Amino acid sequence: MKKFLALALAMAMSLTLVACGSKDGGSSAPAASGSSDASVSVSGEGGTVGIAMPTKSLERWNRDGSYLKEQFETAGYGVELKYSDNDVEQQNNDIAAMIADGVDLLIVAAIDGDSLSNVLGDAKDAGIPVISYDRLIMNTDAISYYVSFDNYTVGTLQGQFVIDQLGLDLADTSKTYNIEFTAGDPADNNAGYFFNGAFDTLKDYIDAGILNVVSGKTTFEQVATPSWSTDTALENMQNTLASYYSDGTVLDVALCSNDSTALGVAQAITSDYAGSNAPLVTGQDGDIANLRNIVDGIQTMTVYKNVANEAIVTLELAKAMLVGETPDASLIDTFGIDCAYDTSSYDNGTGIIPSYLLVPSVITKDNLQELVDTGLYAWDGDYLKSTAN
Ligand code: GAL
Repeated sequence: MKKFLALALAMAMSLTLVACGSKDGGSSAPAASGSSDASVSVSGEGGTVGIAMPTKSLERWNRDGSYLKEQFETAGYGVELKYSDNDVEQQNNDIAAMIADGVDLLIVAAIDGDSLSNVLGDAKDAGIPVISYDRLIMNTDAISYYVSFDNYTVGTLQGQFVIDQLGLDLADTSKTYNIEFTAGDPADNNAGYFFNGAFDTLKDYIDAGILNVVSGKTTFEQVATPSWSTDTALENMQNTLASYYSDGTVLDVALCSNDSTALGVAQAITSDYAGSNAPLVTGQDGDIANLRNIVDGIQTMTVYKNVANEAIVTLELAKAMLVGETPDASLIDTFGIDCAYDTSSYDNGTGIIPSYLLVPSVITKDNLQELVDTGLYAWDGDYLKSTAN
């Protein structure tokens, strides 16, 4: 038996294929034509799971992919992991290929939540269950469960942080502050939750004139950032600064939905903002470059989501589904992770999708050690580095 396991392991290692070459991969190896960034391990005893991640260009998805792969392989499953370069058509093809390969279960973080109905319909027809990972996939009844963080709470944490930092008080309108918003990708169902969570939390202060959105851009559509692009966020902020702040108007807060956009916004503030104050800049994800900015005082906070825990929850859910169970709230006891089972919040257009929602937390310069305590980050001088390979 031992011999067999050793052989299986050796085979798994030698069969681990890595096909890179898309702009996601950052590898010099040429890509097979039409292929995305993929890694495949041999089918494990428990079967094989197909994992579709959106892109390698945003740091967190690299972490998600590697934690998921590690969790499932350690538990005895084969893993087919594909990154689709933020390209909707590519993700459709990648999922179709995994269905053709006969994976036993799919875990999908959608690039565009509205674009997977057909291919996931094929998964359903083939009897392959689907977990919607982190982002809710819309308009398909092929989804059995949703695993994510409480997305609205991510936004409320950002909004509440601003209230606390500025000491805002609805009864005191004598001090006023200027704020600008930067939101995420309209194709990502999460982005609206983040923005609404933040905006709803701050709305009373905006209505009272305590917070002024000088640009007047107060709707999600006006501040959305396609693909969560750092460059687009940078450009949009440069335009806002040039149009509304070049006369010396003070910017107090740049509320950004996540770290990739905060990176661009902070860059625009550093290069184009005329004022001498350091505006509060919010973010989300705990990306290494942003943690560096937090140490340097260029970003003020990030909402941290422990994606290693998200991978554990996904594994436990998949395990139960693969043996034919219908998991519910009681599954949470197996996680050892703070998590809620929600059967009312996430309707994907075909009905409510039962959801396991993990809990996000606020990280600032003062509690970076909490990240180190997770074991996923380590100190690197004054900064943090990732301990993931
Ligand atoms: C969201 C995700 C965030 C952030 C963003 C950019 O869907 O929940 O954590 O990473 O995408 O990729």
